Amino acid sequence: MRTRPMTRKAESRMATDGHHPDAREIRRYGTLVSVPIALAASVRGTSVENLNQLLADTMTLRDLYKKHHWQVSGPTFYQLHLLFDKHFNEQSELVDSIAERIQSLGGVSIAMAHDVAETTLIPRPPLDCEEVPVQIERLLHAHEIVLKEARAMARQAAEADDDGTNDLLVSQVIRTNERHVWFVGEHLVGTPPLAL
Ligand SMILES: [Fe+2]
Repeated sequence: MRTRPMTRKAESRMATDGHHPDAREIRRYGTLVSVPIALAASVRGTSVENLNQLLADTMTLRDLYKKHHWQVSGPTFYQLHLLFDKHFNEQSELVDSIAERIQSLGGVSIAMAHDVAETTLIPRPPLDCEEVPVQIERLLHAHEIVLKEARAMARQAAEADDDGTNDLLVSQVIRTNERHVWFVGEHLVGTPPLAL
C-alpha cells in the first residue's frame, strides 16, 4: 500500500499561502526523522505511508458518521442518531491512535480536511440528506475499504517486524471496524441491497 505523493497543489499551497512568508517547516511531510525504536527507516517509512492512507480513510469514515448522525430520519431516528454518534467517537479515537503512531514512527501525519479529501479512497457522498438504507450502505462500503487496506497493512507490518503498527491495526482498527459493521449492518436485515 502506498499513499499518493504530495500533489503540486499541496506543494504550492505550502509555498504561497502568504500568512507566514518567512516560516520554515521544521519537518517536511513525506520525510522521516530518526527515532531510536530499533526499526529501520525503510520499515518506518512504509508504515508511515500506509498509516497516512488509513488515517485519511478513517477521518472520512468518522465524518461520514457525524453527517449521518445529524441527517438521519425515520422511525429508527433516535437509536441510529445515538449509534452513529457512538461510532463517530470511537472512530475519532482511532484517528488519534493512527496519527500518533505516525508521529512516533518519525513521520508526519496528515491532519487537515483538504489533504484528507485529496487522499481518501472513500467515495464522496452528496451534500443532501439520504434515507437510512443508503446511509447504512455508504457506511458499510467505507468500513470495507478500511478493513481491506488495514488487513494488508497489518500483514506487511508483521512481516517487517513492526509489531507496534501491526498491533494497532489488528487490535484497534480491524476489531473496531468489524464491530461497527455488525452493529450498523444488522439494521439492513430484510432490506433489499441498494446500488450506490
Ligand atoms: Fe449530536
